[in-house]
Amino acid sequence: MINKAIEISEGVYYVGVKDWNRRLFDSLIPLPQGTTYNAYIVKGGEKTALVDTVNPGFEKEFEEKINSITRVEEIDYIIMNHAEPDHAGAIPYILKKNKKAKLITTEKGSKMASIFYNVPNKRIKVVKDGESVTLGNKTLRFIEAPFLHWPETMFTYLFEDKILFPCDFFGSHTAFGFYDIEEIIPFAKRYFGEIMMPFRNMGRKALNKIEELEIKIIAPSHGPIYRNPEKIISFYKKWTNGETEEKVIVLYVSMWGSTEKMIKTLVDVLLAEKIDVCLYNLVTSDIGDIAKDLVDSRALVLGTPTVFGGMHPLAMYGAYLIKALKPPIKYFAILSSYGWGGGAIKQVLDILGSSKIELIDKVEINGPPTQKDYEKIIQVGKKLVEKIRG
Ligand SMILES: Cc1cc2nc3c(=O)[nH]c(=O)nc-3n(C[C@H](O)[C@H](O)[C@H](O)COP(=O)(O)O)c2cc1C
Ligand SMILES: [Fe+2]
Ligand SMILES: [Fe+2]
Repeated sequence: MINKAIEISEGVYYVGVKDWNRRLFDSLIPLPQGTTYNAYIVKGGEKTALVDTVNPGFEKEFEEKINSITRVEEIDYIIMNHAEPDHAGAIPYILKKNKKAKLITTEKGSKMASIFYNVPNKRIKVVKDGESVTLGNKTLRFIEAPFLHWPETMFTYLFEDKILFPCDFFGSHTAFGFYDIEEIIPFAKRYFGEIMMPFRNMGRKALNKIEELEIKIIAPSHGPIYRNPEKIISFYKKWTNGETEEKVIVLYVSMWGSTEKMIKTLVDVLLAEKIDVCLYNLVTSDIGDIAKDLVDSRALVLGTPTVFGGMHPLAMYGAYLIKALKPPIKYFAILSSYGWGGGAIKQVLDILGSSKIELIDKVEINGPPTQKDYEKIIQVGKKLVEKIRG
């Protein structure tokens, strides 16, 4: 391997790594195209800073890239925008080789650096929101961005080059491409749904904070670098605002086909009204795809048979995902088939009843659907369409 730093602006170098073959993140999220852990060296006239590090296991490759333009021992500041190990995991390795560098982080970040990485206090420089550090002819400004993705997170802005280093924010899990690639938006949206959607309010606040900055390059810590940041910023505005489309996400599971027949009937009503439908059979679905479509769906239809007096476990997973990811969905309907006593719908309501999503209707049938059941479902579909169209 060549392991060389790549210059992205004068004195600013990409020293991150590509994890081409990783297929799962957080033991949860599928990564169809792997991911990257982006890190950057900023060389000023007097001092050198490293912005973020890499996932454990990539230290050697990372070190060689850094050493191709400076020496690890010569770094003056290590900026820890976020304490999660995919970005901070190589900090102990760097601090062991480099005896002088200070770790720059937020107050909350300093506690995490000591808990996660045993960084002693004397090696940490805590910065406040808006504070700057000069590297000589280059100035780094720190912007607190709590919960994007953990409470300690901050962005770093390189004033002279107009580069924003927002760590996870604006990121995407793909190892493909280097600069803005045409196919990036679906990956960025998927990532937003998985990681940022529960913190939409925080995302909005952060977007307001960076509004006054002139940004030429967004250099996130996963996925390609944006040299034309307007597009991703405008999508982030829409996504953080919770703007939805005339679109329904359908999550269902069916053991013997009854719930599936109910679901398909309702879907036909929606399609006849030209409402967009994304249908996921929870048996085979990729939850990253589901997360992507949760970002702008206006309604949800959940289908589950009764299993042991409650929901099918896969439907439970789907419902729990909705509760945890807090999508901007406004309306939902539940369809369910049971054999003798039912109970699935009650459990759906236990999970989603306290959310802000309005229940439009529920249909619980015994066994396979009859003509009368289909008629009921068609009515539910019509009600949903009315609500969706406002
Ligand atoms: C493993 C298993 C457990 C079930 N548990 C219940 C139950 O506790 N209560 C109930 O009313 N029906 C129960 N049923 C029956 C199903 O809910 C019923 O067959 C339903 O019509 C299946 O819908 P589907 O065709 O969409 O899978 C169970 C079925 C299976 C296979
Ligand atoms: Fe993270
Ligand atoms: Fe990350």
